[in-house]
Amino acid sequence: MEISITKVAPEKMKPKPTDESKLGFGQILTDHFFIAEYNAGKGWHDPSIEPYRPLSLDPAAMCLHYGQLIFEGMKAYRGNDSSIYLFRPEENMKRMNASAERLCMPQIDKDIFWKGMKQLVLLEKDWIPQSSGTSLYIRPTMIATETALGVHPSNRYLFFIIVCPVGAYYPQGFSPTKIYVSEEYVRSVRGSIGACKAAGNYAASLYAAEKAKEIGYTQVLWLDAIEMKFVEEVGTSNIFFMIGDELITPPLTGTILPGITRDAVITLAKHWGITVSERPLSMDEILDAHNKGTLVDCFASGTAAIVSPVGQIYYKGTEYLINDGKIGELTARLYNEILQIQYGGKEDPFGWRVKISE
Ligand SMILES: Cc1ncc(COP(=O)(O)O)c(C=O)c1O
Repeated sequence: MEISITKVAPEKMKPKPTDESKLGFGQILTDHFFIAEYNAGKGWHDPSIEPYRPLSLDPAAMCLHYGQLIFEGMKAYRGNDSSIYLFRPEENMKRMNASAERLCMPQIDKDIFWKGMKQLVLLEKDWIPQSSGTSLYIRPTMIATETALGVHPSNRYLFFIIVCPVGAYYPQGFSPTKIYVSEEYVRSVRGSIGACKAAGNYAASLYAAEKAKEIGYTQVLWLDAIEMKFVEEVGTSNIFFMIGDELITPPLTGTILPGITRDAVITLAKHWGITVSERPLSMDEILDAHNKGTLVDCFASGTAAIVSPVGQIYYKGTEYLINDGKIGELTARLYNEILQIQYGGKEDPFGWRVKISE
């Protein structure tokens, strides 16, 4: 598969950010993007890398009405040896195709995904920031483009990849978050699309997240939609609790995103001899452990932050401080280990780091 490449003229290139401490997240898009088209009967065709531009969509394009829109989130890292690395990209490809299947969208050819992403990242390599913890965020996206009103799976799609330099998540060091347990709103329910990286899931989460922010909380801790008892995810991350010497995270039953960092945390913790359980965990059990003093650590996991310590939980009118609001030992250990693996500072016993530069 040949990707046609049209480069931006040098004089039209955007200025690259000079202060890497001010990069933030998702503000600055680079000069180029990857795009490919799909038609039922023809399959994927015309992959190209082009100057970054707005898309032209018919107002009746189906993604704008019926929400067939899925995406992924991953990062390219400038390693300690200056090579360019990805972290478990195969898993993102698999997850995107799992989301596609659930939303009746076509599977993306591995060739299109992999070559498109690799060539784009290498073309934009000068946009990859250098300082510790920074990276180039990669956003593969698929949208339904058939022009038709009437609910059915689209027969035309666009797959595109955009990239943007992002800053270190913790430029001033770890800061424990305050989370709000939502008893009113849910993110997904058994049998829904909660396990997909589908735009609708994020739209569904905004209202509760805004309400929580208004009263001083960083994120919402979602409960299961049926009994409103068991923890599910926090904001747009997976959640882990360490009770005694057991590390617990909710099981993958279709309502939460199967996080790639979640899997890395589970694998590493088991490798270190820690007992890890993927099992339902109720708020009652968490509060009981808190009262007994056995709730020793709590953190969220995801590509953006790796792990993010939780310092406080608000539930039914009471605030519970976790580990005296201090960062748990395991949170810090996991953060350092995964960061080092991503940037090439440590052995990679699980083959997670993928070098893409020559
Ligand atoms: C809803 C949700 N849960 C969990 C995660 C964490 O997944 P990952 O570790 O693959 O980034 C994300 C982030 O992508 C997310 O959006």
